[in-house]
This record gives sequence, structure tokens and C-alpha cells, in this order.
Amino acid sequence: MDTGDGQSREAQDPIQVVSLVSDLPENSMVILRDFHQFLEDGNPVLTRALKDCLRVGKTKGKAVLLLGCRQVLPAELEREFVVVPFALPGKDELGVVLDRIASSAGQPPPDGMTRELLLDSATGLTTIEAENAFALTVVESGGFNPSIVAREKANEVKKNGLLEVIAAAGSLDQIGGLDQLKQWLLQRKDAFGDEARRYGLPSPKGLLIVGIPGTGKSLTAKATAAVLSRPLLKLDAGRLFAGLVGQSEGNLRSVIATVEAIAPCVLWIDEIEKGFSGSRSSGGSDGGTSSRVFGSFLSWLQEKSAPVFVVATANDVTQLPPEFLRKGRFDEMFFVDLPNEEEREAIWRIQTAKYGRKATEFDIIQLARATEGWTGSEIEQAFIDALYHAFSRQEEPTDLSLMLQLSELVPLSRLMAEQITALRAWAKGRARLATKPPAASEKRKILTAA
Ligand SMILES: Nc1ncnc2c1ncn2[C@@H]1O[C@H](COP(=O)(O)OP(=O)(O)O)[C@@H](O)[C@H]1O
Ligand SMILES: [Mg+2]
Repeated sequence: MDTGDGQSREAQDPIQVVSLVSDLPENSMVILRDFHQFLEDGNPVLTRALKDCLRVGKTKGKAVLLLGCRQVLPAELEREFVVVPFALPGKDELGVVLDRIASSAGQPPPDGMTRELLLDSATGLTTIEAENAFALTVVESGGFNPSIVAREKANEVKKNGLLEVIAAAGSLDQIGGLDQLKQWLLQRKDAFGDEARRYGLPSPKGLLIVGIPGTGKSLTAKATAAVLSRPLLKLDAGRLFAGLVGQSEGNLRSVIATVEAIAPCVLWIDEIEKGFSGSRSSGGSDGGTSSRVFGSFLSWLQEKSAPVFVVATANDVTQLPPEFLRKGRFDEMFFVDLPNEEEREAIWRIQTAKYGRKATEFDIIQLARATEGWTGSEIEQAFIDALYHAFSRQEEPTDLSLMLQLSELVPLSRLMAEQITALRAWAKGRARLATKPPAASEKRKILTAA
């Protein structure tokens, strides 16, 4: 321990370090670097020693400053310390880092659009990570390449195992049907822009999409980022809430810090119900950590001021805790049903094109009729199966071979009829329909035809 007066004291272990504080003169400040590592295992003797040291220190004007990269204070000490969280560097600070790297690499500091892109790609990184990423782009490309920085960020973000930067987000064109949901999204296209702020629009909070598996929920969630032209981050809520990775509370804090540093961005939480099994059963095995984490997450959802658009999907609403569905968490909740005939036509067109075939080569109308009760995902799978089948015979799939293929498959909706009815009943009045229901006159037509 250096005492600043040129002297130093020896200590063998953290407890001894803490007890040395009492030997120091009055009105001194003690900085304990990386001390969080000793607090992590909650050593009761160390906790006691720190408490005593603080008590004595208070009367003698001695202050103890702990520096660490994680907040791991044991509950007994939480009230004794003031916690000052350090935000991740903003663009100004990153700009300084960038200029420093440029000058040490003997390069002119990047400016204009390249600079903007570089700084955008680096938000969410720590100063040291940004430094490494900037230096790496010089080494790899001989200059400053924002996409290398973005790639490095994607790797860094992935390291804690909870967040992932998704590069290819897809677009609304790849989604058949769901017109009302698409329209809602398109209305929010410029929601994070300056003009929207000037107009007085509040930042959109997010969207919850519930529905039958395979109906394009994940597809739509991904496309949201493209609609808003913002980066897409995927959160593994299952791991976060289930406390599979230790330090759940610290993890949530770091996830939020990263997401808010990258903001404006889209945070995608797929099949969010899977994360809740832990939060409900808790109080038992994990001492309530998961439900505490879930509670903090909910209040962040509701109160966040950073422009983060949260898009969550769920297949099974019975697993969702009611607090989660309360008003104010999301701007809107949409329900995605099985695609209707018109939507199935659109899906057939999209899927045939996706695998390099011309939709005009097939009788899309007949195929859409034959796939009543099928999801988009099942239609895609059937088409892939047909392609394999035809490939093995060195042929091209035809309407006939497709129809044969379809007749052999049973859509999930037939096996899950009960769950689907229950889900529809639940959604009624609670959620907006992703697809516009047929007008009353058309409904009559459908009924008479049936
Ligand atoms: N409405 C749709 N339009 C086009 N393709 C779809 C649609 N719904 C599903 N698919 C296809 O099925 C795949 C799986 O859908 P996905 O979005 O993962 O379903 P969910 O998340 O609702 O379970 C998609 O990647 C897409 O290829
Ligand atoms: Mg999905």
C-alpha cells in the first residue's frame, strides 16, 4: 500500500489491507483498486473488517474508495457505500480515442461520414475495447473501416453470452401478410429521427408480438430494425432471467449499459416466455435473484428514457407473468394468427422466390387453398422438402409434385387446435390483430362457401 507520503506498507491479504486504514493519519483517502474481486465470494470476515474500518474512518475523516468493474457489494455493505456507476464512453470520448489511435498510426484523423460511422460502430464498447477495435482496423485494412469496428463490437458484445449484434436484419418484403402490423411499424419508421423529436413525438417503447409458432413473429421482429434503420441487438432473456449465468443482476446492468450506449437501437427478445420459468419458481433455489432481475427489467422497460425499441415475441402466453402484460411496458401488443388464403398466396410467392424459383411457374392460388391451416414456416418447409424430392430425381418441382407433398403432411394447427382456440380467445380484446379481419360482407361469403 502506497501512502502518498513516500512510504509504503505491506499487507498479506485484503483483511490486513483494510485494517491498515486505521493506522493512517486523519483526513486521508484510501483507494482500493480492483477490490471487487475480494468481495465477490462474500467473505464475512472481510465484510466485518470493512464495516469497522468505515465506522472508525467516519470519525477520523478517512474515506475509502473502491474501484471495480462490477458492483459486487455484499448486502451488509450496500448502505455504507455510495455507488457511482460509470457510463460507457459517449461519442465525444470515443472521438478522442479515435484521434489518439490515428495520430499514433500516423494517419490523418478520419472525418465526415467515415468518422460518424466509426463512432456509431464503436458505441457500446469500453474505451479500451474501442481503442483495440480502431487499432485493429488500421492493421487489417491500412485505414479506418467502420465495418471492422462493427464486427469487433459484435464479438465483444457477444462475450457475456446474453447479447448479440445481428447484422442481416431482413426486410418487410420477406413477410407475407400481417398488413396491420407492418403498417404500424412503418408509421414508426422515422420515430428516432430529429424531426420526430421536434414534432413532439415520444420515443416508441416497443412492441410485443404473440401468436402461433411459425407465423413470422421472429421474422417481423428482425425486420423491425431495418424499418427503423437502427442496429439490432438480440437478448437471450432465457439465460438472463433463469440465472444460468452467475451474477444475474450485474449482467442485467451491463446489458442495459451496452444497449443504451448503442441506442438508438432495437432490442429483440425472442420467445420471451422461456425466460420466465426461472422468475416464477424463484424464491426457492436462487434466493429470489431471478425475480429481482425480472423486476428490474420490467421497471427498465417502463421507465427507460434512452431510445431503445424493445421487440419481444411469445408463443405461449400462459407462461407470461401478468405484470409483464400490464399497460405501459409496450406501446402495442399484436396477435399473429394462422395466415388467411390471401396471406398464404403471398407466402408461397415469397418462399418460391427465396429458393430461386419463379412464382409464376406454380399455381399459387391452388397451393394457397391446399395449405389452409398451415403456417408460413410449414409452407417453407414443404417447399424445401419438394425441392429435395425433385432434386433427387433430377427434376424441378411441379404443382403436381407439390400437391402430393402437401397431402402427406399434417399441419401443426390440426394437432394444436385446442391451444390455438385458447390463444385466440385470450388475444381477443387484449391484443391487436396483425392481420385485418375480413370485412363483414366477405365473412358472409366465406360462410356460405363453406
Ligand atoms: N408470414 C410469413 N411470410 C413469409 N415467410 C414466413 C411467414 N411466416 C413464417 N415464414 C417463414 O417461416 C420461417 C419461420 O418463421 P418465424 O418468424 O421464425 O416464426 P415464429 O417466430 O412466429 O415462430 C421464417 O424464417 C420464414 O421463412
Ligand atoms: Mg420465433
